[in-house]
Amino acid sequence: MKTVIIYASVHHNNTKKIVDVIADEYGVDIIDAAKITEKDLSGYDLIGFASGIYFGKMHQAVINFAEVNLPEDMDVFLICTYGGKPVFDSIKGIIKEKQGRIVGEFSCKGYDTFGPFKLIGGISKGHPDKNDLDNAKAFFKGLCKNRNL
Ligand SMILES: Cc1cc2nc3c(=O)[nH]c(=O)nc-3n(C[C@H](O)[C@H](O)[C@H](O)COP(=O)(O)O)c2cc1C
Repeated sequence: MKTVIIYASVHHNNTKKIVDVIADEYGVDIIDAAKITEKDLSGYDLIGFASGIYFGKMHQAVINFAEVNLPEDMDVFLICTYGGKPVFDSIKGIIKEKQGRIVGEFSCKGYDTFGPFKLIGGISKGHPDKNDLDNAKAFFKGLCKNRNL
């Protein structure tokens, strides 16, 4: 199963830690949407989008990437790290427009020093931790299993 994860991880590399652990274990391709804006994804069987949550949305670079590059009728999974709560609405609309199917969602806390949180040393310090990374690997393994791969 040829898989790619398109990610943006700009605050503390929290999301990148999740993306890397999956990529290292399962050999999936990764694309940094903050650096690469166009790519032909038609050769992939499964596409993941991953980022932190910033002002209630996934990173704009990931949203833009999906808008421009997501082929129609694809299986898609979503990953986010968050300080408060996971929110995938921003990208779900685009996936729906392109007749995509969301086959899985994974989220976990990520160290957050934005705004006033900086004054108290940040929240969710140490996340993603080992348990979060293990859960992410199990999530991806489950995705593969559901697809009989
Ligand atoms: C500018 C900014 C805005 C943020 N807004 C939110 C938010 O609306 N909701 C939330 O749960 N977390 C918010 N966070 C926390 C991040 O989502 C969290 O730290 C995430 O793990 C960052 O991922 P990254 O290190 O991969 O960029 C915000 C962080 C920053 C820097």
